[in-house]
Amino acid sequence: MHIVTPSIFSDSTLQELFHFAYEFESGFVDNIAKDRIMATLFLEPSTRTRLSFEAAMLRLGGSVISCSDASGSSCKKGETDYDSILTVSTYADVVVVRTSNDWPDLNVRTPSNYPTSHVDLINAGDGANHHPTQALTDAYTIWKKFGRLDNLCIGVAGDLKKSRTIHSFIELMSRYESNYIFLLDTVNSDSSIDDSYLPYCAHMLCDTWKFHINFPKMNIVYTNRVQQERHDGKVGNVDFKLNEHWLNRLSPEGSIVMNPGPRRDELPAELDVDPRVVFFQQTRNGMFARMALLKYLFRS
Ligand code: NCD
Repeated sequence: MHIVTPSIFSDSTLQELFHFAYEFESGFVDNIAKDRIMATLFLEPSTRTRLSFEAAMLRLGGSVISCSDASGSSCKKGETDYDSILTVSTYADVVVVRTSNDWPDLNVRTPSNYPTSHVDLINAGDGANHHPTQALTDAYTIWKKFGRLDNLCIGVAGDLKKSRTIHSFIELMSRYESNYIFLLDTVNSDSSIDDSYLPYCAHMLCDTWKFHINFPKMNIVYTNRVQQERHDGKVGNVDFKLNEHWLNRLSPEGSIVMNPGPRRDELPAELDVDPRVVFFQQTRNGMFARMALLKYLFRS
């Protein structure tokens, strides 16, 4: 199976994955990955995605081989992502890939009898496009808190054009028509989101004023840093910064503040004492969600 965007996770698959993840979180031991190898091919920096995938694989009894630095790979010699991914696929049962480019079209160009067509491939972030397992992690965090993914008021503040975690998050959450999603673009004054995401925007309101007005109703406030590396360094840290004043406007019990990390000024560490800030819970949930996904892939 190829996990490229969050659309691959149907509602019933999500429910199954959440239950697997919750079992793992509750201490269930499963060696389903015994005798299997995961390759992590990270051609862009990562801390939590790569290490949570590797921890997940090791906890399931499997083994890991890793390329964590593009400059030490054949990328440096001009190899394409297509060739790198297929090369690594000849060594492993599952390949987790992060690249700064768009996900290559492996299905079309790979003959069905290709020796690696049985290998599971997971997109761990392709340029500014998608990051499906971060969306899975975020959805699991929401499901644990609210017991559902629908009927929620959600505010998303960040780099709407360039943040792949935001793209995957809104693609997944806007699937539920009862959700209200308010967007605040912290980089572009025109508050715009790429046209390619418009099909998912039916229930979204991208408007600074509406974001502010509706803030107290929000169950989820999702923040993400400005993706400086995708703006050629031309954009610095921007003015949206959560603080006690903002937090005090949220419901004491019925809200959470999320950030996929790494965080910058948008979510100051001083706010971590507030139980609504679930930043480090998200990182731990990411490991259980990835264990669940690996179990799902290896079982089928
Ligand atoms: C994100 C990414 O790489 O897209 N990090 C992550 O995987 N948790 C978000 C970011 O870098 O801002």
